[in-house]
Amino acid sequence: MLLNLIKRPHWSFGALVIALCLLPGWGLAADMGNCLLCHKYPGLSRIDNDGKMKLMFVNEEIFNKSVHSKVKCEGCHTDITKIPHEPAKPVDCLTVCHIIEPTSEQKFSHKSVKKFIDEAVHSKIDGEGKPKKFNEDMPNCKDCHDNPLFRPLAFVKKVRPGVAEDAMGRCRVCHEKEDFIFRFYNHITTRLHKSRSPLNIAEACGKCHDDKEMVKRHGLTIMAGSSYADTFHGKAANLLSETIPDCLDCHVVKGKSVHQMYGNDDPRSSTHPENRGAICNSVDCHPKASVKFANYQVHPVYDREKSPVVYWFTTFFYVLTGGTLLPLMIILFLDLLRRLFPNATFKRRK
Ligand code: HEC
Ligand code: HEC
Ligand code: HEC
Ligand code: HEC
Ligand code: HEC
Ligand code: HEC
Repeated sequence: MLLNLIKRPHWSFGALVIALCLLPGWGLAADMGNCLLCHKYPGLSRIDNDGKMKLMFVNEEIFNKSVHSKVKCEGCHTDITKIPHEPAKPVDCLTVCHIIEPTSEQKFSHKSVKKFIDEAVHSKIDGEGKPKKFNEDMPNCKDCHDNPLFRPLAFVKKVRPGVAEDAMGRCRVCHEKEDFIFRFYNHITTRLHKSRSPLNIAEACGKCHDDKEMVKRHGLTIMAGSSYADTFHGKAANLLSETIPDCLDCHVVKGKSVHQMYGNDDPRSSTHPENRGAICNSVDCHPKASVKFANYQVHPVYDREKSPVVYWFTTFFYVLTGGTLLPLMIILFLDLLRRLFPNATFKRRK
């Protein structure tokens, strides 16, 4: 039946609904909340009009442990009002949901994030409120937050980020309900540290910042992702270091939301020449770093005009490496020849 679903979605969808309605206990045909009744099946998928396979499976276990576990499906998929559904609209991350935020007692939404972004470098509008050129290149929430929940094949990742069972045991001393402990402990601890590794962050940003055309369109000068990868920072990130600084450690002022990132020439930016000193000399990184140290090229550009020192230094090492390896290989090759053909000679034997 699942194969069928893929080939002829609407026909078989009808069949599925009928089949499910016939199941004993499925009395609440109009129970719209019961989304997982169908969506818990890993094979639920279809081929889109553009030929792409689209998975409709939602992993219940991961969903229940995710930050959004208390939000009802319809809280985000607001246009799903009947079964079979009409084609769904993309979810709007700024939807106001039914959850009340306890300190303001208002219905919750992520509009504060939008406000930060609108004032920062990834905004679609400029300082005067006019649309920026090529503003379709600017990241939307979902460009950076590609939650694995929406990529259901990630169901193999059974991680509980930030949860130390030992520490949770301490809450049990006074609080009895497991749910309560888990929810609050998880709520707080997952937000106290990074949920992505430096490599994951660099990949998310590199999607755009390594796109040659995009970089050119916006008058940027470097391929930020690959130039990061060329440095010690990036190489350590590649080896899965968790402590090496990633894009956010340098581009976000300490204590601010990661969504408040600015261009280098903006005085609010951590990478503005006046502020750069403060990036490096944190206690954990280079406590004795001077302002001069912070001018070290963390995004090296191999351009003879713009950064001659880096250029010639790199060229020197290329020549040195090539100049040593190449003769060595020639010698090895000649030696091998002699060993294989000990009597070979260029002279004609008489
Ligand atoms: C009776 C089974 C069933 C129930 C209950 C159900 N769905 Fe679905 N849903 C499906 C099937 C089957 C598809 C694939 C539809 C298709 O291929 O046309 C689907 C597709 C979707 C899609 C993608 C639609 C698109 O056009 O991309 C979303 C989003 C969705 N469902 C959300 C929900 C939500 C939210 C609920 C609960 C309010 C829910 N579903 C309840 C069976 C169900
Ligand atoms: C916090 C908001 C949120 C909640 C809660 C949520 N979803 Fe989604 N869901 C999304 C987003 C975002 C996508 C990615 C597609 C998009 O942008 O619309 C998605 C994608 C899907 C898809 C795949 C459709 C597609 O177009 O690829 C299905 C099916 C789905 N959700 C069903 C559910 C079900 C069932 C629940 C409840 C268990 C649920 N969702 C809860 C936000 C949410
Ligand atoms: C969907 C594409 C996209 C993604 C993803 C993206 N950016 Fe950008 N970014 C841009 C565009 C486009 C600009 C140019 C803004 C402009 O023209 O005003 C930009 C500008 C910037 C700038 C300012 C450069 C300057 O000095 O003017 C920084 C810093 C930056 N991004 C960092 C990041 C980081 C860090 C990430 C990852 C968390 C990231 N970006 C993810 C598209 C993206
Ligand atoms: C340029 C990439 C980018 C864009 C665009 C973006 N975010 Fe984020 N956001 C991040 C990163 C990176 C984090 C840090 C989370 C982590 O460590 O995984 C984050 C964190 C968050 C958090 C957790 C609180 C915090 O600040 O750490 C929320 C909530 C959030 N984003 C919502 C949104 C919403 C809603 C939008 C769209 C209006 C959005 N984000 C757009 C990159 C982005
Ligand atoms: C020594 C006993 C004790 C321990 C240990 C303890 N709590 Fe509490 N907790 C309380 C008491 C008593 C209250 C109610 C009084 C108050 O609000 O200050 C409370 C209140 C709370 C509240 C607020 C509930 C509300 O609705 O206002 C949360 C959340 C909470 N605890 C979470 C935790 C977590 C998570 C842990 C483990 C990291 C923990 N507590 C460990 C005694 C404790
Ligand atoms: C160690 C700190 C550090 C790290 C890590 C870092 N940057 Fe930078 N970034 C800087 C500084 C300082 C500048 C300004 C000087 C320069 O251009 O080299 C800058 C400049 C930029 C620019 C503007 C370049 C232009 O074309 O004008 C962008 C975009 C950018 N970084 C994105 C990123 C992204 C994406 C990452 C992660 C892959 C990242 N940065 C990692 C410190 C850092």
